[in-house]
Amino acid sequence: MVKSKTCVFISGQGSNLKNLIYRSRDKSFPIKISLVISNNKNANGITYAKKFKIPYLFINTKLKNYENKIIQCLKKNKISLICLAGYMKILSDRIVKIYNKKIINIHPSLLPKFKGLNTFEKVLKNKERKTGCTVHYVNSKLDDGDIIIKKAFYISSKDNVSTLKQKTQKLEYKAYPEAIIKIFRRY
Ligand code: GRF
Repeated sequence: MVKSKTCVFISGQGSNLKNLIYRSRDKSFPIKISLVISNNKNANGITYAKKFKIPYLFINTKLKNYENKIIQCLKKNKISLICLAGYMKILSDRIVKIYNKKIINIHPSLLPKFKGLNTFEKVLKNKERKTGCTVHYVNSKLDDGDIIIKKAFYISSKDNVSTLKQKTQKLEYKAYPEAIIKIFRRY
């Protein structure tokens, strides 16, 4: 099986990156993580790139030509799928156009509900019965684009921001690999 070369974009913890690295070591998993891009030099996720000897690139988004650098690096590494995993910047129209339907993101809510930041606070404030995570294609709007997979759980009266985060992330580790398998079934 020829695995699709994939780049994961991160900004912080990188637990989804770690999970995808583990899953992609499975022979039948359709992708190989060939590149990690971070806009944060101190992102913990970089440690996984180092540990698994995956090339990584730090991008300084304050520089004018930083997008050219990203595109050059993606092309050089023959990347055909981009997974955003806690990447805290919005990709420009230009990158979204070049990689049309080849960029996916994971968001910690049941989209279209609660786009943007502070999701768990919003979920609690809104007294939702259920929450979860969504994997979706990326377009140039925030947390928008066609949905690939959603996974949900019921909220208990004891839940707080921290337990919701834990429960959501546990579901994310199932949802992201499943979404990837699902999109490759269509090709
Ligand atoms: C995840 O909860 C994801 O839904 C959101 O950012 C978080 C990243 O976590 N987009 P990690 O860096 O993968 O641990």
